[in-house]
Amino acid sequence: MNISIIGSGYVGLVSGTCFAELGNKVICADNDAKKIALLKNGRVPIFEPGLEELIKNNLKKGRLKFSTNIKEAVINSEVIFIAVGTPPLDSGEADLTGIEHVARSIAQNLTGYRLIVEKSTVPVETGERVKHTIATYVKRKIKFDVASNPEFLREGTAINDFMHPDRIVIGVESKKARDILTSLYQPLNAPIVVTNIKSAELIKHASNAFLATKISFINAVSRVCDKVGANVEEVAKGMCLDKRIGRAFLDAGIGYGGSCFPKDLDAFVTISENVGYDFDLLKAARRVNEEQKSFYLKKIKDALWVLKDKNIGILGLSFKPNTDDIRSAPSLDIIKSLLQDGAKVRAYDPQAMLKIKNEINGITLCKDPYEVARHADCLLVVTEWDEFKELDFKRLKKQMRCALIIDGRNIYDPEEMSKFGFKYISIGRPSRKDGGK
Ligand code: UGA
Repeated sequence: MNISIIGSGYVGLVSGTCFAELGNKVICADNDAKKIALLKNGRVPIFEPGLEELIKNNLKKGRLKFSTNIKEAVINSEVIFIAVGTPPLDSGEADLTGIEHVARSIAQNLTGYRLIVEKSTVPVETGERVKHTIATYVKRKIKFDVASNPEFLREGTAINDFMHPDRIVIGVESKKARDILTSLYQPLNAPIVVTNIKSAELIKHASNAFLATKISFINAVSRVCDKVGANVEEVAKGMCLDKRIGRAFLDAGIGYGGSCFPKDLDAFVTISENVGYDFDLLKAARRVNEEQKSFYLKKIKDALWVLKDKNIGILGLSFKPNTDDIRSAPSLDIIKSLLQDGAKVRAYDPQAMLKIKNEINGITLCKDPYEVARHADCLLVVTEWDEFKELDFKRLKKQMRCALIIDGRNIYDPEEMSKFGFKYISIGRPSRKDGGK
């Protein structure tokens, strides 16, 4: 099929590239000329494992094209995906300016039937608005369909998630739209859930809100574990063997971050409020997530007492491993608070150093974990990158002024750490097996 994707952010770029890999002819359009120039040369503005290789390969095969020209994209494609950003406004609502702008541009360049598909995460009823906007701005009477096809890929595992999804959701209003999308996704061999447009839009917000709530739930359990000397990992293990619960998203830590969960929870709370429902449960999930960072900072203060002039080393800055993304990363709030208390902060992350440099002043970036540990009064694990799981702990300890690790992601075994001579503090897990603190 001839497809275009308007908006070359995370979702647009990965979806466009994967559609090309599946054998379609794809135009990825974006109004950011600098980004498009980079992409045309096979260079990728984000860090996502495997993406650059896939882009280069599909550029070479002539299946993938990058353009700043939305008219070209609309004229040459049967299916047009809208994948522009929907950033949060101060009110918590999603800013739909980009979507409206694209809808108008599509209308003004429409030459024949097109299927216009929302891929961005949008509030329920956006499909109606897109349809209305296109109908208003289209120059002559041309048939078109609007559909919703939310994307569930995660950063860091985006290509695999796109190619092997648990399900594909398509919200449609016509048989033609349903047939086009079903045949486009047919090679993925995944269950396809066909709904109306509003349900599809809600499935996306409900899924993200549910996953975020699951994380907040286990984080709340971790607080109780900490108080009584129980182990949150053992609790999660005991819970998850019940198939109705499952193990995924039950890792306690310093809370969720990223460009999706915080923004989508805010949006869903506001959407619900606007239709007269107070989604208190999500407000509580949000509050638990914020408290988790304060709770971690309290652990640091309890261990170090006065933070002024203390050397604090940070392992991990990105909001999760395998990405350079620091949007709403817990590291940001944690570092800002430590700096405010007068601590000296040294940090290392395998991918996110450049981004943190533009975001926070006053921290020293180091070339590896051992440099971070030099003269440190304490090491904090903030992101669970694999490379932190296999450190030379003897070497690490030698570098430190105080052998203290406060692990916000529970990546080490407390017993092991104590064997290496560290005082080790983690989230919802006692330092000793018998529950001793
Ligand atoms: C999330 C969803 O998982 C995707 O399905 C969705 O498509 C995407 O948002 C989106 O809406 O675009 P993503 O934000 O990339 O994906 O990352 P996740 O892997 O979901 O992690 C989100 C946050 O939750 C991270 O900060 C992670 O550290 C945290 N997390 C995750 C936990 O604290 N505990 C867990 O058990 C799992």
